[in-house]
Amino acid sequence: MSTAQFYRLSFADVDRVLEIEQQLYSHPWTRGNFHDSLYNSHEMVGLQDASNNLIAYYVLMPVVDEMHLLNFAISTQYQGLGYARSVLDHLCASAREQKFISVLLEVRLSNLRAISVYTQYGFSEIGRRKAYYPVADNMREDAIVMRMEL
Ligand SMILES: CC(C)(COP(=O)(O)OP(=O)(O)OC[C@H]1O[C@@H](n2cnc3c(N)ncnc32)[C@H](O)[C@@H]1OP(=O)(O)O)[C@@H](O)C(=O)NCCC(=O)NCCS
Repeated sequence: MSTAQFYRLSFADVDRVLEIEQQLYSHPWTRGNFHDSLYNSHEMVGLQDASNNLIAYYVLMPVVDEMHLLNFAISTQYQGLGYARSVLDHLCASAREQKFISVLLEVRLSNLRAISVYTQYGFSEIGRRKAYYPVADNMREDAIVMRMEL
């Protein structure tokens, strides 16, 4: 972790972000989704190691006084190594510096690993969005809405 560095992602990084995104999610963001975030100046940040391998990335969207965590991912080979906490530390510090009062996120009801990470970090469930996410066979899955005050 000591040699890993956070840096602001740009259009030039979208290919390598997509490579990870497509490995991790059943319904990954498209190139267009990432471009939209960049065009809208969302905070898109990557964490890379000393050999420039992308370890993790996140996307934050400001909404009034709250930061929305739109995407948060750790590349498969770097999972289970404690990077989740470091990335959450980084994004919360950034939001805090910019005077946002909280971070809000949605997570699939079935994503127990992510829910565990967020809960251990200090996020609490504040609601559910019914049938928010697509799943296979034209079915839908609820989202848990979680929030943490900064
Ligand atoms: C969610 C994600 C960012 C977490 O990062 P990670 O490196 O895997 O997280 P860690 O290994 O540090 O922590 C996982 C925690 O969940 C626990 N966990 C792992 N699998 C679990 C499961 N199936 N059910 C419940 N808890 C689980 C682990 O025990 C660990 O807790 P611990 O620190 O007390 O041991 C990562 O798995 C990821 O990128 N997943 C795919 C993308 C994604 O789902 N992003 C979130 C979208 S909202």
